[in-house]
Amino acid sequence: MSVPTSAQALAQRIFIQEVGPRDGFQIEACFIPTGDKLALIDELSLCGLAKIEVTSFTSPKAIPALADADEVMRGLRRQPGVVYTALVPNLRGAERALAAGTDELNLVMSASETHNLLNLRMTREQSASRLLEVVALAKEGGTALNVSLSTSFGCPMEGAVPPSVVLGLAERFLAQGVGGITLCDTTGMAHPGQVGALCRAFRASFPQAELTVHLHNTRGMGLANALAAVDAGADRFDASLGGLGGCPYAPGATGNVCTEDLVHMFQAMGFQVDVDLPRLLTAARTLPVLVGHDVPGQVLHAGQSLELHPVPASLVEIRARAISS
Ligand code: COA
Ligand code: ZN
Repeated sequence: MSVPTSAQALAQRIFIQEVGPRDGFQIEACFIPTGDKLALIDELSLCGLAKIEVTSFTSPKAIPALADADEVMRGLRRQPGVVYTALVPNLRGAERALAAGTDELNLVMSASETHNLLNLRMTREQSASRLLEVVALAKEGGTALNVSLSTSFGCPMEGAVPPSVVLGLAERFLAQGVGGITLCDTTGMAHPGQVGALCRAFRASFPQAELTVHLHNTRGMGLANALAAVDAGADRFDASLGGLGGCPYAPGATGNVCTEDLVHMFQAMGFQVDVDLPRLLTAARTLPVLVGHDVPGQVLHAGQSLELHPVPASLVEIRARAISS
C-alpha cells in the first residue's frame, strides 16, 4: 500500500457524505425532536458536505427514532450542491421517500443472510427482488439511486462475507441502472488490507459506478480503513458527526467513522475536501446536549492538530535554568 504524499493528494477531491441524522440518530435511546433534527441538518447543509443522509423511510416500529422521516425530509432547507438522500428498505419506504421529495433513494440490504433477516425480516433474495421493483419505480421518475450493502466486510453473526457475494449483488443492481453502491462495514470488522482489496476489485469490475465506503470505527480501524480505500481508488465516504451511529439490529454495533476526524485527516494530508471544518466542529459541539451523552469524536476533544496550546508561564524559568546548567 502506498499512502499518497501531500503533492499527489492535492490533486484529489474527496467527497464527504454525512450520515449522522440517519445512522447516528437511529440508535439513540431518546427521540430527538423533529425541530432539533431539522436545525442540525440545516446547519450541516452549510458545511460543504456532498450529500446528507437525512433519515430513513423504514417501519417506525423497527426504527422509532426516525418515525418523523416524512416531516424531516419535507421540512429541511435545501442548499444547492447538496444531495439529500434517505435510506429505503422496501417499496413502501420508496413511495414515502419519493412523496417527500427525496433527491436520492439509498436502498439497503445486507450481503450476509443472517443480518438481512434480522434487520429487514427478509431473505437476501426477497430483499434484492423487492429492491429491484423499487429501482424500476424510481427510474420512471428519474430519481437517483444508490444501494448500500450492509455487512460487506463481515457479519457479526456469520463472520467473513465472500467478496464474490458483495460484487455479485453490486452487479445485479448496477445492471438495472443504479448509479452507486456503498460498501458498508456495519460493525467495524474490516481491516485496511481487506478494505483495499475489496475497493480495488470493485473499481476494476465497475469503473463507471459511484463507490461510497461506509466505515464504523468499532475497533479503531476507521481512519486507517479510509486511507486504504483512497489508496484503492475510492473518493467518497459516509461519516457521522461526532462519531455517532450504529445499527440496532447488528450485535456489537458502535459509531461510524467520525466526520470531523475524517475531514481533519484528509485536509491535513492536502486532499481537496471542500468542507468547512470549523463550522462542522461547531455543529458537532451541539451533539452532547442533543443526544444526552458525550460523543467519541477525537478532534472535537483535542482540537485541530495545528491549534497550538499557550506556552506555560513556567517556560521562562525552565529555559533560564537549562541555559545556565
Ligand atoms: N415505512 C413505514 N411503515 C412500514 C414500512 C415502511 N417502509 N414498511 C413496512 N411498514 C409497516 C407496514 O405497513 C406494517 O404496518 P402495520 O403493522 O401497522 O400493518 C408493518 O410495518 C409491518 O410490515 P411488514 O411488511 O410485515 O414489515 P416487517 O415487519 O417484515 O418489517 C421492514 C420489514 C423492512 C419494514 C423493517 O424490518 C424495517 O423497517 N427495517 C429497517 C431496519 C433498519 O433501518 N435498520 C438500520 C439501518 S441498517
Ligand atoms: Zn452504518
